[in-house]
Amino acid sequence: MKLRTHTCGELKRAQVGQSVVLNGWVQRRRDHGAVMFIDLRDRTGITQVVFNAERNAEVHKSAHTLRSECVVSIMGQVMARPDESRNPHLPTGEIEVFVDEVEILNEAKTPPFLIEDEADVTESIRLKYRYLDLRRPKMQRLLTLRHTVAQAARGFLNTEGFLEVETPVLTKSTPEGARDYLVPSRVNAGEFFALPQSPQLFKQVLMVSGVDRYYQIARCFRDEDLRNDRQPEFTQIDLELSFVDHQQVMELMERMITTIFNDAGGVSLPTPFPRMTYTEAIGRYGSDKPDLRFEMPLYDVTEFGAASQFKVFKDAATKGGIVKALIVKGGATLSRTRIDALGETAKSFGAKGLAWLKITAEGQLESVIAKFLDAKAFAAALPDTAPGDLVLFGADKPAVVHDVLGRIRLLLGEELNLIDKTAWKPVWITEFPLLDYSPEEKRYVFMHNPFAAPMDEDLAMLESDPLKVRAKAYDMVLNGSEIGGGSIRNHRSDIQRKILDMLGINKDQAQAKFGFLLESLEYGAPPHGGIAFGLDRLIMLLGGADSIRDVIAFPKTQRAQCPLTDAPSAVGTEQLQELRIKLDLVE
Ligand code: AMO
Ligand code: AMP
Repeated sequence: MKLRTHTCGELKRAQVGQSVVLNGWVQRRRDHGAVMFIDLRDRTGITQVVFNAERNAEVHKSAHTLRSECVVSIMGQVMARPDESRNPHLPTGEIEVFVDEVEILNEAKTPPFLIEDEADVTESIRLKYRYLDLRRPKMQRLLTLRHTVAQAARGFLNTEGFLEVETPVLTKSTPEGARDYLVPSRVNAGEFFALPQSPQLFKQVLMVSGVDRYYQIARCFRDEDLRNDRQPEFTQIDLELSFVDHQQVMELMERMITTIFNDAGGVSLPTPFPRMTYTEAIGRYGSDKPDLRFEMPLYDVTEFGAASQFKVFKDAATKGGIVKALIVKGGATLSRTRIDALGETAKSFGAKGLAWLKITAEGQLESVIAKFLDAKAFAAALPDTAPGDLVLFGADKPAVVHDVLGRIRLLLGEELNLIDKTAWKPVWITEFPLLDYSPEEKRYVFMHNPFAAPMDEDLAMLESDPLKVRAKAYDMVLNGSEIGGGSIRNHRSDIQRKILDMLGINKDQAQAKFGFLLESLEYGAPPHGGIAFGLDRLIMLLGGADSIRDVIAFPKTQRAQCPLTDAPSAVGTEQLQELRIKLDLVE
């Protein structure tokens, strides 16, 4: 086999006249009789190679046997293309290679889809033949971007004094709030490892060990319902620092993310990132990961609702709920059918309804509920409205109103093209509540993870008013996507134990789950904190991918399966016997 002298993406005018060897895949063949063109492809690009009967009849004849995707080595001479056949869209578009020798290195079956960006193929076929799918230039670009981002992150962290440390994959459950993947132990029959939902416990222990600044590009495993931006197995840029406060962590991370976006993606993010408290974000955008590429805020009209004659508003406003409004600028043109459909969507999000009104060109209120409302009071409550606007209302418990209107806001932002797709809008969300109350479980649950420290000024409320206690926690949000989250931790075991008590995790449970961490805190744990970024989500945003599956080489489907390997799959009885496991599946 003749080894390549050049890749398929690098030949330019400068090499005209040279004799070269290229190795690669046959992308396409175009037969023009005495002249046959082949696009030869490798990871770096495409070069047009020419089999010319006049130059070499034998070689020209053999070109007829070259099928799509077969692997070849060609030797030939670089020629300048005639002016009319130059291709300015191709980096190698100035030249072509006239072939003198060709060797087929391997044949290929006809692929189930074309190896092109726009291939018309279902995702399940793409995933089954992932090795072919990954040959597509778009996928190669995303793989390369992922590599570049990881290198940029490592480069930044290395210069900032971080140590890369690996933590175990066969370990104990980490409390990040999802279900665990379990691995049975053969040597300790009846016992199970859990795959880590994050390196959280180990990175804190590393701080106790004096590592000072740790990072890892770490695989995390969470058995949860999958979505377009969630995988059961995903990657974090995970880090932890000693002797820092939340301001320092946020400042450093802002520099890291801007460096990564700049170096790997050529994107310059606007700095400093704005900061918004959790309460502000929920109140104004109905979400703790607000998409700030468009405005359309939620307005609080609870007082107006309380004073109105509309029972739904009045009841909500006087019984501990709230009434909030979304103003859809110029939305009065939306048809009744469309508005009714929005109402149904709101119901599917958990609302009881979605009251609406239009403001006519004459400034009149037009709606089935208009008769219950006072036009003057309305204008005073919502001075930002104008003729031609549509106003949508939610009236319910705050959590329902915020969630539903927040989602309707996003939906309308997309549908009415209000989102500036070229904009980059990062924001820090801060001052998360430490705890939430779960009515189903009738107990407090953690908002971030059980190791987040309460804000100093709120410590006193830990017993008197726990839901008011804010945590030293921060999330980084970009264009409506939560790309990272972290907190300053409880380095003192007394406070940590108190919080675990509040969460209803008693001493024995705590000991069984993460006793080693709690114990380590008693041996001189430094104040510490950290954060983890979703690497996959960063690549999705930077690479403009719609699905998290496009930025992972070998992802799982929405049903948490891998069509390439057919995992998960049944195992033989022998293996089960070794593990001393008997299957007794219950429906
Ligand atoms: P958290 O659970 O917020 O924090 O995760 C950090 C970031 O990881 C990404 N992420 C995911 N990406 C893809 N698929 C998933 N299933 C998935 N789940 C999370 C998100 C998220 O912001 N140990 C803490 C970090 C810390 O406190 O330092 C943790 O794991 O982008
Ligand atoms: P009804 O009084 O049920 O005929 O509802 C009148 C309007 O109020 C309809 O547009 C409903 O969708 C809407 N609506 C009902 N309940 C709520 C609610 N909790 N929040 C907002 N709108 C509601």
